[in-house]
Amino acid sequence: MLEKLSPLPPDPILGTTVACRNDPNPDKVDLGVGVYKDAGGNTPVFEAVVEAEARILAAQTTKAYVSPPGDSRFIEGVTRILFGEDHPVLADGRVGAVQAPGGSGALRVLAGVLLRAQADTELWVSTPTWGNHIPLLGAAGLDMQQYPYYDRGAHALSFDAMVEALKQRGPGEVVLLHGCCHNPSGADLTREQWDVVGDLAEERGFTPFIDFAYHGLGEGLDDDAYGVRMLARRVPELIVAYSASKNFGLYRERTGLAITVDATAEQAATATSQMANIARELYSMPPAHGASIVGEILADVELTASWTGEVTAMRDRLNGLRALLSRSLAETTGTDEFDYIAGERGLFSFLGLSPEQVQRLQSERSVYLIPSSRINVAGITEANVGYVAESIASVL
Ligand code: LMR
Repeated sequence: MLEKLSPLPPDPILGTTVACRNDPNPDKVDLGVGVYKDAGGNTPVFEAVVEAEARILAAQTTKAYVSPPGDSRFIEGVTRILFGEDHPVLADGRVGAVQAPGGSGALRVLAGVLLRAQADTELWVSTPTWGNHIPLLGAAGLDMQQYPYYDRGAHALSFDAMVEALKQRGPGEVVLLHGCCHNPSGADLTREQWDVVGDLAEERGFTPFIDFAYHGLGEGLDDDAYGVRMLARRVPELIVAYSASKNFGLYRERTGLAITVDATAEQAATATSQMANIARELYSMPPAHGASIVGEILADVELTASWTGEVTAMRDRLNGLRALLSRSLAETTGTDEFDYIAGERGLFSFLGLSPEQVQRLQSERSVYLIPSSRINVAGITEANVGYVAESIASVL
């Protein structure tokens, strides 16, 4: 039976890492998968994580299952940093949540909830959106639709077109928004634009669904959560897929949280029971380690302060690299064409290159990015930025 299967090409995002790893060129640069790297090109384990792991190991007495909704300290800690200490949805018990294997696991569990609530749910995603949104959420069974978001030629949001598309949405339709650090464009909504989305969600009655994978990497932990907190105040229902991969550096630990904000505390309890049941169907129980680390950090004032400092350093470094790359590209190309990179946020920006130019960067210069010409800014270092800028100029 299995001989009927055909082999598939590598994943467009994950495949670049493998291709780069196999390249013997010592000058190669990996700007593919969205993983943070330091000046030495390494993805470090946070000091707060090392300390939390040591404490967990010392105190650990069992490897028995965690409860189906997951680690309560993790859920309490993440919902507190997400909504903010005094948010009414927390005070009113209107938040349902289950721990999930990564932000992707949270997306998949939440897709299940939407389909159980309404079998023909339409989910509207931005054009462009993360390369795995449509495969992952579409495979779950959602009816995937797209709204305009980013103009690649102008390197700017297509906000008016987005608003026009959202004006057509209504009750029973779900609109996926990136909480901050839009993947793949790096172009985020301003507070004023978030407010317009809030007006539309209230007026039209669609359900916002926030993918929140880069909390703290844009403008700061509170600023990045503006859209989620504002929507949670204004609309009766909201959905959030939270990832701790980037902001705690826990990529391989698969640490995510599927969250619903519901109209009442009773509905939040119902949503939690449904999510735990969907998780039971998919993978039964959540993995423990990453969530216990995040729970340990967020339950401890000193560890939280240490972690917050590390997130700040990471964000400052990313924004510094953005400025550095823009300046280097201005020098090598003699234009201001790439100045927009400095103003975008998070790990990603588009270079606006064709797939052929991306291929040439790879074959002629060993500079790896994904075919859409999305770069991971964190792959730039002070040492390689000149080479990267020259390489990009060479294919223009
Ligand atoms: C990315 O977009 O590079 C990351 O979110 C990693 C992934 O799974 O695609």
